[in-house]
Amino acid sequence: MNLSPAWLDELRARTTLSAVIAPTLKLTKAGREFKACCPFHNEKTPSFYINDEKGFYHCFGCGAHGDAIRFLTDQRGLPFMDAVKDLATKAGMDVPAPDPRSREKQERAAGLHDVMAAAQRWFVEQLEGVDGGAARAYLKERGITEATRQKFGFGFAPDSRGKLKAALASFGNDKLVEAGLLIQPDDNKEPYDRFRGRLTYPIRDVRGRVIAFSARILGAGEPKYLNSPDTPLFDKGRTLFNIDLAGPASRNARRVLIVEGQMDVIALDQAGIGEVVAPLGTALTEDQIQRLWRLEPAPICCFDGDSAGQKAAIRAATRALPHLGPERTLRFVDLPQGKDPDDVVKSGGKAAMEELLAKPDPLVDRLWRYERDAQPLDTPEARAGLKQRLFDHVQAIQDPSVRQLYRDEWLRRFDELVRPQAAGRGAFTPRQPWKKNREGRFVPPPPPASAAARAIASGGIDKATARALVYGHALFPDAIGDHVELFATLPLADKAASNVRDRMIDLTMSGQALDREGLVPILATDGTASDWKQVSKGGDLGFTFTRSSGDPDLARRDLAMAMETVAAKVELDAAFEAAMARFRAGDDSAFEEQQKLHAAREVINDRLASLAGNE
Ligand code: UTP
Ligand code: MN
Repeated sequence: MNLSPAWLDELRARTTLSAVIAPTLKLTKAGREFKACCPFHNEKTPSFYINDEKGFYHCFGCGAHGDAIRFLTDQRGLPFMDAVKDLATKAGMDVPAPDPRSREKQERAAGLHDVMAAAQRWFVEQLEGVDGGAARAYLKERGITEATRQKFGFGFAPDSRGKLKAALASFGNDKLVEAGLLIQPDDNKEPYDRFRGRLTYPIRDVRGRVIAFSARILGAGEPKYLNSPDTPLFDKGRTLFNIDLAGPASRNARRVLIVEGQMDVIALDQAGIGEVVAPLGTALTEDQIQRLWRLEPAPICCFDGDSAGQKAAIRAATRALPHLGPERTLRFVDLPQGKDPDDVVKSGGKAAMEELLAKPDPLVDRLWRYERDAQPLDTPEARAGLKQRLFDHVQAIQDPSVRQLYRDEWLRRFDELVRPQAAGRGAFTPRQPWKKNREGRFVPPPPPASAAARAIASGGIDKATARALVYGHALFPDAIGDHVELFATLPLADKAASNVRDRMIDLTMSGQALDREGLVPILATDGTASDWKQVSKGGDLGFTFTRSSGDPDLARRDLAMAMETVAAKVELDAAFEAAMARFRAGDDSAFEEQQKLHAAREVINDRLASLAGNE
């Protein structure tokens, strides 16, 4: 059957989900949605929501999530095609005729399923039989219990080129070759058994059917693992080991883990953590990540603490970037150096693993940490390189709001990291650690007094600074949103600056998110034309944000910093005036306070001056 995504979308669009669910569950209206007691887990108060507009149900209790087709397959137990036909009939749509090629493929695959099932039975028999002694001993030595052996279907491939071929002869060699169980040498020589002298275990599809085998050498040797080749049943890049068991387990656990090794999956399961999958010896593919997102919005990658594991983590992170969304991300746990999950549970049990899993790193942190530590940041070039790499990652993100938030977050961290180092180059010398202000933003420690500082007048926001700030916001209008209130209320003594500012605020508040090209022509006309002339010619004090050709990120950052500084100045000025008044009125204790405020105000003026000197 050849159901295109477009056809399925059409089917979903024509289907009212609540109508599909209503015969099975008692629905009550909840706003724009319906709610019901979840059919996928036991509950007394409804946490199962149905959204007809989106065509999805979601349970906040157990995480069950899906569309109409999914409901019919998962809740009613219909086979996929039956669910589709059922819905299509109700929606008045014709199910597309089966495409002869895909039908043939399906039939071939159906035959192969029988072959794989027979091979699985045979491998298990061998493990239990006389040939299986060494393999049984190996399992015992690895601490694999009888229950785990059965659950994961361990078997044994005897060290022979023809035993499996003989045992499954009734299928014919062609089928066995097609199933990847026999190797067909290039010339027309006899095919022979692929897996020899190895412990085997099956790789299953979502429905639990055997589609491939993995086979480990007993003890040391190369290659350690041998997997089935790609076959009509098995596509390495689209398969996840243990997906059939991890799916249901992830609903209860409300998380899903990805580990590097299949034996790690098995060891974790034995330790009581069942919601675990592994790729098949390759890097995680986009397709695999998408599959995991269907189970859980933030799967946790638990990769080995060695450099290969760390590389795998970063590769997974970069693969995920383009597809990140509000319900689609990855988290990361770094295992201790030289340990894999199998080692962790072997030495510390489930508790040791749970401890590592307690605080996974969000993707935004993991990638940041990797890029930050990639090389020393002791030169401007190296720092620029870091910034470039971060921006490249940001560019890869397709979701606009996630992209914006990553950009802001990394830029903030970059500033925090790089600013103190810039001081080493002579911009200013940090004498105290950076502190967070009330908005959680980092502000630099006060710079030493300089001659330039005195150029900026003390007392009020001087004309030049006011004009520079207003001009800067006109050139980089998206910075207004970063601190609208502050910008709107800043006491600007200069009439021109204040008029232009007020107009900009009006435009912003009226919902016209304007860019520079839209904004500047408006400011330069009618009401504010002459004020704009003043502001735009007077502003340049050497701020990054008063140069129209400047780096917008730098400009926005410096604007934010300048705004914080002037805001602090306004507060200090007010406190200073109050202290002065008290002192004049005879309150001696106000003298000391006034002295302190005076010193603080000097510091602020210096800081503003040092910003003006930025390139
Ligand atoms: P590891 O070597 O990390 O696996 O390879 P492991 O689980 O720790 O193995 P044990 O504990 O020594 O038995 C991770 C994965 O890489 C693939 C396999 O899929 C394995 O699960 N691999 C590894 C191969 O395909 N071939 C190899 O030779 C080695
Ligand atoms: Mn291992």
